[in-house]
Amino acid sequence: MLTREENERLTRIGPGTPMGEVFRRYWIPALLSEELPDADGAPVRVRLLGEDLIAFRDSEGKVGLLAEACPHRGTSLALALNADCGLRCIFHGYKFDVNGTCVDTPTEPEGSRFAQKIRADAYPVREAAGMIWAYLGPTDLRPNFPEFEWFGLPASHQHAYKVFEECNYAQAVEGAIDSAHAGVLHRRSTWDAPPSQAFEEDLSPKLEVEYTQYGMRYGALRNVDAGQASQARITAVVLPCFTFIPPFITGPKIERRLVNAYVPRDDTSTWNFQVLFSREASFDDAHRRVEGGLQLDADYKKLRNLANNYEQDRSAMKSSNFSGITGILVQDHAVSETQGSICDRTREHLGTSDIAVIAWRRLMLRTSKQLAETGEQPPGVHTEIPFGDICSATIEVPPDTTWREVEPLAPALAR
Ligand SMILES: [Fe+2]
Repeated sequence: MLTREENERLTRIGPGTPMGEVFRRYWIPALLSEELPDADGAPVRVRLLGEDLIAFRDSEGKVGLLAEACPHRGTSLALALNADCGLRCIFHGYKFDVNGTCVDTPTEPEGSRFAQKIRADAYPVREAAGMIWAYLGPTDLRPNFPEFEWFGLPASHQHAYKVFEECNYAQAVEGAIDSAHAGVLHRRSTWDAPPSQAFEEDLSPKLEVEYTQYGMRYGALRNVDAGQASQARITAVVLPCFTFIPPFITGPKIERRLVNAYVPRDDTSTWNFQVLFSREASFDDAHRRVEGGLQLDADYKKLRNLANNYEQDRSAMKSSNFSGITGILVQDHAVSETQGSICDRTREHLGTSDIAVIAWRRLMLRTSKQLAETGEQPPGVHTEIPFGDICSATIEVPPDTTWREVEPLAPALAR
């Protein structure tokens, strides 16, 4: 449970808010590369951290991310002409390049220097692994770009996509760092059926958290094989909004890794970016395809959604599928979205299975407080972190051993 003030601090991410300032110290995914397929193509509206922006790819293929409102009279640059290395507003023809520099003001008199006095707010971007990343913070505090592990893999070994989530980012993150829900919500059969996956065997995993340079990680320890063995699923939680989910082995024995980024669109909606990757093998179409049940419209919104109760199938709940909802991602979104657009954490009752959630809230609240009060940079910012070493794991833990001994943290990542 949080106080009303703590809940506000945790969840509000607009410009000038304490948590908004934390998010503005990191590089975050803003959109997918596929949304800007062509040079001089249509600009795309991007709502990010409560700001209305416009992304476009110029004649040379460079991506720009500008405030949507033209600095002249506020008309949307979503309508602008994209040509000759810039966006030209359709109202008066003012033109801006990817850096926000005003390069033409055709309705001003000959010899006018007005163009030098105005500029569009522009944010730096980087393109990596099918995503366009942005930094929305102070120019002089821009951190190094985080070179995550999958950036180095061939394109055939990875797949990035995004899904609109109709709630605040914090409850989306909290769903992902809550290992105990896996054996319930994601049950592959009815409630009474025998377990079909390791995490259905032990519904009350023991959770252990440790703070790290990049945020935190936690192990969920379960008894498996009828109590004969112990398994740990270790999740890395990378600030400000990444979760590295422990790997699954898919049917044809390809180890599939999943990273989530829950990027705040505004206070009440989130872009759930997902990256699927494999270190060893390329994905064929079957692996690349997101697991069954995820159907999206052209705006990356789920066809099974809050408005249609996720097309929950009540007869399936009694015969084959405990949640009655098809697809892991849709199941996850259903439980987060129905907590409300911003979950009221003054009314909840947390149990032992919520230890990682509690630790994450402490970390986020402490981080925003320290940044606001002392200017201390958030975890992972302006430190020499080997981002490529951050990973999750699913491991066997032998008797009389801890998961930390089996999977020790790289020294450079230890806090
Ligand atoms: Fe889940």
